[in-house]
Amino acid sequence: MSKIDAIRLSEKESHETLYKNNKLFEEGSFLYKPVKTVMDILPLLTNEKAVRVLDLGCGVGRNSIPITQYFAGKNCLIDCVDLLEIAIEKLEEYSKQFGVNNSIVKYKSAIEDFEITEDTYNLIIAVSALEHVATEKDFICVLEKIKHGIKKNGVICLCVNTEVVETDIKSGKLLDAQFEVNMKTVDMNDLLFKTFSNFNTLKSTVVQQEHAIKRNERDILIRTQVVTYVVQKLNC
Ligand SMILES: C[S@@+](CC[C@H](N)C(=O)[O-])C[C@H]1O[C@@H](n2cnc3c(N)ncnc32)[C@H](O)[C@@H]1O
Repeated sequence: MSKIDAIRLSEKESHETLYKNNKLFEEGSFLYKPVKTVMDILPLLTNEKAVRVLDLGCGVGRNSIPITQYFAGKNCLIDCVDLLEIAIEKLEEYSKQFGVNNSIVKYKSAIEDFEITEDTYNLIIAVSALEHVATEKDFICVLEKIKHGIKKNGVICLCVNTEVVETDIKSGKLLDAQFEVNMKTVDMNDLLFKTFSNFNTLKSTVVQQEHAIKRNERDILIRTQVVTYVVQKLNC
């Protein structure tokens, strides 16, 4: 099995376990609440008549569903993209449960295969997802597509794990990080700033985080530098 296939299989297993065993907006996992940075940028879009959003690696909708709720009463449409069948199934279930199914269009696709239509979106988000495209080349290509897909005054919010280290909690053994793209933090920031050099930077932070996950019945500690990068397209 290739390295990418092995990573994808192990990621599939850990996300399937997570999405089966944890409910959206209930305590116990990261699904508990939307990302604060994502919610904080929504007021920037309140003057738009219609809001088109793209959520890459959307999971079960922990950000997309609150976004549609925030823009309730406006014409808001979110394109949600995820590789996993179970993510899309749960997204369907939750978007019906929360009464926002008409605002959410679901795509079961790899981010790197998804065509981003030019000059279309008011908001593009990718939370803990872009590091799972197949290669660094794909990563760069997706950033370019995002850059061209955003409309004037639109906002891009990316949260990307870098310098990921994984440890088996029981044995303390260092493991291969199951991330397709595991860049140095400094290289990630350079790439983001270079790609969006004409944009207005609203936020650029690096926060060290660690959390435990279950993968193949093993408890794994993940240590990561989370790069959060928010830009707005003003005059370019
Ligand atoms: C850590 S979860 C984050 C989900 C969501 N963004 C959130 O904040 O709740 C990562 C998600 O990305 C999806 N994913 C991983 N690799 C992907 C790829 N190459 N293309 C599309 N989705 C992918 C996984 O299936 C998973 O649902």
